[in-house]
Amino acid sequence: MIVAIDGPAGSGKSSVSKAAARELGFAYQDTGAAYRAFAWYCVEQGVDLHNPDDVTDAVPGFDYAIGTDPDRYYVRVGRHDVTDDIREPRISAVVSAIARVPAVRERLTAIFREIMASTERPGIITEGRDITTVVAPEAPARILLTADEDVRMSRRSAELAGTQPEHLVAEQLGARDRLDSQVVDFMSAADGVVTIDSTHLTFDETVRAVTDLVRATMATD
Ligand code: DC
Repeated sequence: MIVAIDGPAGSGKSSVSKAAARELGFAYQDTGAAYRAFAWYCVEQGVDLHNPDDVTDAVPGFDYAIGTDPDRYYVRVGRHDVTDDIREPRISAVVSAIARVPAVRERLTAIFREIMASTERPGIITEGRDITTVVAPEAPARILLTADEDVRMSRRSAELAGTQPEHLVAEQLGARDRLDSQVVDFMSAADGVVTIDSTHLTFDETVRAVTDLVRATMATD
């Protein structure tokens, strides 16, 4: 059972997907982590991130692994555990530049599909920006998770626990969404995709909305 979830930055899709996967006994794949890990790798290798040819040349050397057990999440590049490093603002600031390079999207999409195909659990929740439309358009359950912009900003600020001023978080998040949405449209639901708007829902209610939809889909399959 493949569950595809897309949404903008700060929509809560990572924490909601992880909690829903845990409850359903499913695996969990965070695809943003792969884009972040590739950006980290390019920075380490001294690749000029704004030169698409140089970024493309870096693709074959990218050795990536992710833990899909929602209770044992990790991200590795080669021998390096980059789970925490890829969340640093220096990576968030450059990830959109590499995410727009077609060779990167092609390689990462192939990796995402391999991971979905090889899970030993009864299902896998894969979340990102183009999962419902490009990576797994045939998934039986496809969800767009949204929330009003001001709610997304304040949730992200709370996540960062005051490490950065709220106006800065809002600026960075807005800038990243604008750049990312030039590449894929993750603000509107494609045909057959169910929208869950979490603006007025608690975290638990949002998780419940996802698990209810997955269970209902499994029952009719
Ligand atoms: O979800 P996130 O913030 O960790 O994602 C990091 C970046 O990766 C984001 O700026 C957009 C990009 N991304 C993408 O282009 N396609 C995906 N399926 C997932 C993420």
